[in-house]
Amino acid sequence: MDVYDAVTSRRAVRDFTGRDIPRETLERVTSTAAWAPSASNLQPWHTYMVTGAPLAEIKKRAGERLASGDLWDEPEYEQYPTALKSPYLERRSAFGEQRYGSLGIAREDWEARQRAASANWDCFGAPAALFCYIDRDMGRPQWSDVGMYLQTVMLLLRAEGLHSCPQMAWAKFHKTVAEVLAPPDELVLFCGMSIGFADTTAHAARTGRAPLDETVTFVDGL
Ligand SMILES: Cc1cc2nc3c(=O)[nH]c(=O)nc-3n(C[C@H](O)[C@H](O)[C@H](O)COP(=O)(O)O)c2cc1C
Repeated sequence: MDVYDAVTSRRAVRDFTGRDIPRETLERVTSTAAWAPSASNLQPWHTYMVTGAPLAEIKKRAGERLASGDLWDEPEYEQYPTALKSPYLERRSAFGEQRYGSLGIAREDWEARQRAASANWDCFGAPAALFCYIDRDMGRPQWSDVGMYLQTVMLLLRAEGLHSCPQMAWAKFHKTVAEVLAPPDELVLFCGMSIGFADTTAHAARTGRAPLDETVTFVDGL
């Protein structure tokens, strides 16, 4: 698959078939993604690729917590600035309107939004999930390295005919994930990522992007 096709066909998929993914495929993707760049080659990502019974256990425990009305865990990092300013605030609302609007959920219907969001903790039906951790004493450049690594994983998944959804939502259930994966204490769960074959019968709204001149400045003359 051409790199341009991999980039433009990647999208956050939220409806997967349960079709299993061969272990060799997941090994090929993760071993190739290891070539992602990182400052001074620290390779600060710690990845757990979870399938089968352990993933079913994580989903089950998360589902039980949701059903019991248990409060989320406090994520171990700030997910967004407390006061999101323009133009990010508008972009976030446009995303919310599109995502929930495409499911026929009204803006003010908080309960229906929460129900739709709860599919996060079932990995949207995906048969595999990656949980990506980083050492808690790492700084911003290393978090950025992890982002590059995750995008590399997502693009390689496209080359395998697979789709993904990166999910910070899992940081709100990091204790549940840790009960099953038992990561070392010095690691922080940045995000999960659902991985699988997209259910092509499901309706999927494509997200838009800001016009190029809002995010890129070409400087090519004096
Ligand atoms: C770090 C990160 C965390 C995300 N967390 C979630 C999440 O918890 N749940 C979800 O449904 N989508 C999540 N997304 C997907 C974004 O909503 C999505 O990438 C964005 O709206 C752009 O849409 P696209 O990926 O389909 O192009 C996340 C994306 C990133 C990069």
